[in-house]
Amino acid sequence: MSGTSLDGVDAALVQVDERDGRLGAYVEAFRSTAYESEQRTAIKRGLEGGPAELCRLNVELGGWFADAALRLLASAGVAPAELAAVGSHGQTIWHEPPGAGAVGATLQLGEPAVIAERLGVPVISDFRTRDIAAGGHGAPLVPLVDQLIFSTPDGRRALQNIGGIANVTLLPPEGSSEPVVAFDTGPGVAVIDAVVELVSDGAERYDLDGRRASRGRPSEKLLALLLADDYFAQAPPKSTGRERYGAAYAEEVLRKGRELSLSADDLVATVTALTARTIADAYRDFFAGAALPDECIVSGGGARNPKLMQMLVEAIDPVPVTDLSALGWDPDAKEAAVFAILAHLHLAGRPGNLPSVTGAAGPRVLGKLTPP
Ligand SMILES: Nc1ncnc2c1ncn2[C@@H]1O[C@H](COP(=O)(O)OP(=O)(O)O)[C@@H](O)[C@H]1O
Ligand SMILES: [Mg+2]
Repeated sequence: MSGTSLDGVDAALVQVDERDGRLGAYVEAFRSTAYESEQRTAIKRGLEGGPAELCRLNVELGGWFADAALRLLASAGVAPAELAAVGSHGQTIWHEPPGAGAVGATLQLGEPAVIAERLGVPVISDFRTRDIAAGGHGAPLVPLVDQLIFSTPDGRRALQNIGGIANVTLLPPEGSSEPVVAFDTGPGVAVIDAVVELVSDGAERYDLDGRRASRGRPSEKLLALLLADDYFAQAPPKSTGRERYGAAYAEEVLRKGRELSLSADDLVATVTALTARTIADAYRDFFAGAALPDECIVSGGGARNPKLMQMLVEAIDPVPVTDLSALGWDPDAKEAAVFAILAHLHLAGRPGNLPSVTGAAGPRVLGKLTPP
């Protein structure tokens, strides 16, 4: 898995089993390999370039994903032949949700044939396109797995992932007739990262430990302007990406911040508050009965930003906020592990989407199989 943040490749080794009709998953090993700056440049060139750049990037990414998988296996002392399959999400190049009368479009690259060739095991990839073809958003795809693994009879849980984009799954109590609600709440760390990169002239890639946001003060004026964005008011199903909350958006934030004479750290504090506030507002606006969840469990790199976490705690008070380690899961490993579980569902011939969440016409088996 390589997310919208372009921070690196995450690889998780997951043991999946089913007992008494309940899916169990255990993350045996996890490894995140940060991209070298040349690799990040190559991805950005692909994102902005033409067919030749994309074509080369597809093969290169496949190689990097194979490297990441092999390194993980070596550190875990597991031979590739012991794998049932590799589930590869790929790198999102473009993601366009369905709009008025038009189907959506999505493209994830990282050539599965290269991975199959290097590891000699089946590769399941391209998970989003089938849901899109069925009229859905192709996102989020985490909710079904969240429901299978993390639902509890005891209460309503919000599983909040904060990667480049932030997405939430609200799980009703197990066995209840309430539907699972899940969608992208908006930017996660993508805008924070991009603003930090701009104000530091490229010297910093993200707000390490939330230091800038802690030194600055959020501007209520700028925050009000940013919150007026129609994405936040839009009812689910909805999904978003770098197309909307990428570099151009960050430059616009910077321009507005300069008009208000905000310091660099105030700007970072403001976009950090934007992530926290849009998450909290989304819970109040879109959860069934507008009732807040009983707990909020955070995963993704955003959980490592203490200032963002503090702002989230304040924004959704009195809901207790923890990270996924409270449930025995490495918060960084979750997204990659989910795609291993989706690969398992593919092999079992079972659907991986939740149509009520993505808007697809029905449940679909997700992904395409490249034989070993
Ligand atoms: N120590 C830290 N302090 C602040 N932010 C961090 C820290 N470690 C990671 N992050 C954030 O996490 C991001 C990566 O999160 P990740 O979940 O991998 O996102 P994605 O799925 O979009 O790749 C980084 O870009 C950065 O913003
Ligand atoms: Mg990442």
